[in-house]
Amino acid sequence: MSGIGKWLQERIPISGVQIQELTNEPVPNHLKRWWFALGGTPAYLFVVQIVTGILLAFYYQPAASTAFESVRYITEEATFGWYLRSLHKWAATLMIASVILHQMRVYFTSAYRQPRELNWVIGMALLMCTLLTGFTGYSLVFEQLSYWGATVAANISDAVPVVGRFSKQMLLAGDSYNERTLSRFYILHAAVLPTTIIILVAVHIAFIRMHGVTELKFEDEPEDKPQHFNFFPDHILTELMIGLTLMIVLSALATIFPASKGPKANPMITPEVIKPEWFFYVSFRWLKLFSLTFAVLSTGFIVSAMFLWPWIDKVLRKVTGNEDISVYIGIIATFLLVGLTVWEAAVAH
Ligand code: HEM
Repeated sequence: MSGIGKWLQERIPISGVQIQELTNEPVPNHLKRWWFALGGTPAYLFVVQIVTGILLAFYYQPAASTAFESVRYITEEATFGWYLRSLHKWAATLMIASVILHQMRVYFTSAYRQPRELNWVIGMALLMCTLLTGFTGYSLVFEQLSYWGATVAANISDAVPVVGRFSKQMLLAGDSYNERTLSRFYILHAAVLPTTIIILVAVHIAFIRMHGVTELKFEDEPEDKPQHFNFFPDHILTELMIGLTLMIVLSALATIFPASKGPKANPMITPEVIKPEWFFYVSFRWLKLFSLTFAVLSTGFIVSAMFLWPWIDKVLRKVTGNEDISVYIGIIATFLLVGLTVWEAAVAH
């Protein structure tokens, strides 16, 4: 061992072998395919968000009089500011997309079933926090669309029975958008939600370590082939490759399609077309299809059913005697999700 190695070993007496023993566990072969190991992708993108978010926070000023100007400064004057902002924006988009895809993979492989029900619930909480982080981040730019988007969202939450008024006041720091609203969005976006996500991901991973990932069988896999491989270094290397590829894709997207900004928020002028970010298109289209009360109540019902899905699925399988009932429901839900999102994206109003 070299002099430095000896010095380090004496002060931090942990060996590589110990780390390998601690982290190593057999990983089922299907996790070699990206679709099945998708959970690592949002985790990786979340780290990108933390790093780029801290750098953006050096410049961003969360007040109605300064926010838009500070975003303009980041985009047009700060060295590589445009690149950082674009990376942050694209990583958010990809993180939300990969969380949804990961959830679909878990759903369609029934990996939420006994004994993993609680980890599904934690995953649902992660989905909610990720969407809320996206929403609050979008609002920070203080441009016309983000200002009016936040106002519309707060008015919608007002329609929720019992807690609606309270949640609107909590979100806006008052009855309507005011000079304290932006700092509230900022503390939620940069402190409360990321900390919650870190805690939830830690519990999520702890559960995965306790149960292991669901074993899946594939028809094209020969029986005599080993069914597992090592977490360390094999799976870590796969994750590293995915991370590097993602960084290249992110960098290319940020350079080719850099983050832009619209006109500054003007509380006196309501834009003709108000649109949220793409990940809320589905709820926005749903809202336009029905009355406000029905849309809000049905959305609450759907989200609650998603949280309780592992137990609802169990009852449905028992009642119908059909083990694949969740697959049919999942296909309908996916068509609705994609259909409503594309519909909202395609039309101006
Ligand atoms: C920030 C968001 C999330 C992160 C970082 C994350 C991370 C992970 C990781 C690394 C795995 C191991 C297997 C794999 O890579 O697919 C996993 C498995 C799992 N995740 Fe997530 N996840 C997130 C969100 C969700 C959501 C939204 C759900 C569902 C509502 C969910 C439910 C599950 C379940 C049930 C498993 C066990 C799957 C199995 O046993 O095969 N996760 N997650």
